[in-house]
Amino acid sequence: MSDELDESILDGQQGHWESMLSDNPDMFGLEPSEAAVAAAAQFRSADVVTVVELGAGQGRDSFYLSGEGFDLTATDYSQSGIDAIADRAGERGLSISCARCDVRGTLPFPEASFDACYSHMLFCMALTTPQLEALVLEIRRVLKAGGLLTYTARTTDDAHFGSGIDRGDDMFEHGGFIVHFFSPELIEELSEGFEIIELLHFEEAGLPRRLVSVTMRKA
Ligand SMILES: C[S@@+](CC[C@H](N)C(=O)[O-])C[C@H]1O[C@@H](n2cnc3c(N)ncnc32)[C@H](O)[C@@H]1O
Repeated sequence: MSDELDESILDGQQGHWESMLSDNPDMFGLEPSEAAVAAAAQFRSADVVTVVELGAGQGRDSFYLSGEGFDLTATDYSQSGIDAIADRAGERGLSISCARCDVRGTLPFPEASFDACYSHMLFCMALTTPQLEALVLEIRRVLKAGGLLTYTARTTDDAHFGSGIDRGDDMFEHGGFIVHFFSPELIEELSEGFEIIELLHFEEAGLPRRLVSVTMRKA
């Protein structure tokens, strides 16, 4: 891990996300991500019913997954994000449980609560490798036996990896946002206690961003 790691700077991202989400009501749009559409198909074929979403933002994927019939619990550490999801779910007649939750701490759910966990572009936020390792253990705890975890993250193949402000531990800051770029070694390390059942590289608009989608089954 690099000497430049300063956890107070990483912690400052929470305020940044809070103001970005409250100032931009449709920051990621209302259409579901490609990752959510793929996860829904996978979850359906594994007979998943209950899903917890981590880092749900303003809910574009929450609305889709709930509309597809999953029993969804949406979480984020931004109060404005969670409020937006709750309000819009009500307007759309969707029943989504919403909980404010910071994934740097314990997840506020009993063990074996969910059939699956879905998380698009949260793992690659300002989370250190030890925080990610603890998060995966927590997800394992709240998943039922054989439960699925699908997460996506930007990778070390991304154009922004290695540029901007170096925050240590493969994290770089661009335009006020800190991103942890995932290496193949990190993906492997985070799979402990799980079996990787699918690993897909894909691109998302913009740079383009280079991402990986990892689906793992609780071993
Ligand atoms: C890149 S956005 C993705 C939002 C959503 N998944 C989407 O694709 O529309 C990352 C989200 O993670 C949330 N987040 C970042 N760090 C978090 C943490 N430690 N705990 C919970 N949520 C966090 C942010 O508030 C933001 O909503």
